[in-house]
Amino acid sequence: MSHAATPRRYFLETWGCQMNELDSQRMAGQLMQLGILPTKRPEEADVILLNSCSVREKAEQKVYSSLGRYRRFKQDRPSMLIGLCGCVAQQEGERALRRVAELDFVLGPARVGELTELIARRRQGERLVATGFPAQTDYAFDNISRDGIYKGMVTIIEGCNKRCTFCIVPQTRGPERCRSLAEILAEVRHLVAFGFLEIELLGQTVNHWREPDGERDFADLLDAVARVPGVERLRFVTSYPRDFTPRMVEMVGRHPNICPYLHLPVQSGSDSVLRRMARGYTVDDYRRLAAALRDARPDLALSTDIIVGFPGETEDDFQETMELLRELQFSSVFAFKYSPRPGTAAPRLGGDVALEVADRRLQKLLGEQQEIQRRLNRELEGEVFDVLVTGWGRQPATQSGRTPCHRIVHFPVEGAGTTLGQVLPIVIERGNPNSLMGRPAPG
Ligand code: 5AD
Repeated sequence: MSHAATPRRYFLETWGCQMNELDSQRMAGQLMQLGILPTKRPEEADVILLNSCSVREKAEQKVYSSLGRYRRFKQDRPSMLIGLCGCVAQQEGERALRRVAELDFVLGPARVGELTELIARRRQGERLVATGFPAQTDYAFDNISRDGIYKGMVTIIEGCNKRCTFCIVPQTRGPERCRSLAEILAEVRHLVAFGFLEIELLGQTVNHWREPDGERDFADLLDAVARVPGVERLRFVTSYPRDFTPRMVEMVGRHPNICPYLHLPVQSGSDSVLRRMARGYTVDDYRRLAAALRDARPDLALSTDIIVGFPGETEDDFQETMELLRELQFSSVFAFKYSPRPGTAAPRLGGDVALEVADRRLQKLLGEQQEIQRRLNRELEGEVFDVLVTGWGRQPATQSGRTPCHRIVHFPVEGAGTTLGQVLPIVIERGNPNSLMGRPAPG
């Protein structure tokens, strides 16, 4: 009898947005096809991949501190490969290889499909940088190692052509490229056939999708995907306010399987800040869009992103942001202190806000938003939601899941519990600021 060789192992750490999450799933899929299996212990890995984010400076520092930890494992495992991937990889390129001697390759986000090839060439001695934005990318979707079984992510548009003055994404993810409708629908059908109930369409400005060499826009795409039999829940992230057309709003109202949840970053409640950010809309434009969406879908939960301490932000500007939060009652808010990024225009605008001031604004905003969410979620007590079960709770005999409006629900289970990926009616007993507690509704 022969002994099977010990399988080789990979360790993959991911930071950042859903795009990065999906890129990691694509890389994991390629490694598994090479017979390299996941491990939770970096010290025993044969391949370590760091999929990085550079949207704020703090995110960028994290990848370098991990790299500092993992490079030492190479002393005991000289055959170990370490790859820097994602947005920092695109940004740093060659520089990363010079800075970190233990680094074997640098792989940008538009080229994750080339991981297998890069590993093979490294084994032959080449230390490579694969960055940039090839015009044609071969997007293989049948070997993605999907995490979990309930949510299938589908990229529809990559990159961004906008020039928001704070944002590094156009540099790290490159110019906008759209996938064809036929290809997107093929991937959606493939996911449904595998039992995924929820489809999440991805793009940095997801609602700016256009059919390449065609007429169709994101409203047509939403319509087409929502009609695919078996798509129980359809979500999309992230929408750009200015690109939302009345037809898109209409589609959100028309298809019940489009989730009544929308992430719509406003960034600031002050027109002068929005102008300096070059967002291309006013606070009133945003208000009108939010109202139209809520007209179309009265149960719609809106979430948003806010930057505080943007150059030139006065106390009055900040107060306008606070007023907008009170007025629009977001179901959740992702708030960040402004962080200057290389190659962006905002650092040259002047009017830097002192760190303590930005800190204080951030705390103030987060505190008030907690109260808003506490009130909103309390109002849901007694309601019954169809909850898509996504995991086990930290408490014994509990599970958790998501309402159609994307709120997290924890509930006790009896017996073996509900299979992950199934939908269960849950009555809400308590609304906390960041989650709901409930129990299975009596049949
Ligand atoms: N500083 C702080 N926050 C930023 N974001 C993007 N760039 C920066 C920056 N330079 C935030 C925006 C965006 C979210 C993904 O990250 O709010 O919507």
